[in-house]
Amino acid sequence: MAETETAIQSKVNAVFSSFKGTENELLPLLQRVQEELGYLPQEAMLEVARFIHVPESRVYSAVSFYSQFRLKPAGRRHITVCRGTACHVRGAEKIQETLERELGIKEGETTADLEFSLEAVACVGCCALAPCIVINGEKVLGRLTPQKVQRAVQKVKKEEGRQDAQKDHPCEPGDVL
Ligand code: FES
Repeated sequence: MAETETAIQSKVNAVFSSFKGTENELLPLLQRVQEELGYLPQEAMLEVARFIHVPESRVYSAVSFYSQFRLKPAGRRHITVCRGTACHVRGAEKIQETLERELGIKEGETTADLEFSLEAVACVGCCALAPCIVINGEKVLGRLTPQKVQRAVQKVKKEEGRQDAQKDHPCEPGDVL
């Protein structure tokens, strides 16, 4: 969820307390701030630049260079589509197209209600279950088909708020987002 400027500042300051403020801390700082806020708003990047005494442009170029950094808030359900080789040969492109169609967003975007966001990455480490997607960076769903994905998204949209915790088994062949 998007934060107010004051909330952002206070969270960023809390992150700074465990760093020294040196230039070589740029990437770990950005990672920690993103973990805290879910993305890197402009105010946070400015604070980071001031904290480590580098020009703002240095922070912006690092953020735009590394795909791990997000400039917009992630959705409550952040969906990562695996586009690695095993998933690619088993239809990852169709999985992504289905997600984009069902969610009404493109890869790299977040729905207006901040419920879903979508990104594509290389192998997520569950190739035997290809094609896979990952929910909120922790739950892998595999052996997907466009039909399973479509049903799962529609089900989640109907059952707002429902969560299916299967954290003990990170690689799941299931079809629930
Ligand atoms: S290529 Fe998708 S899990 Fe390995």
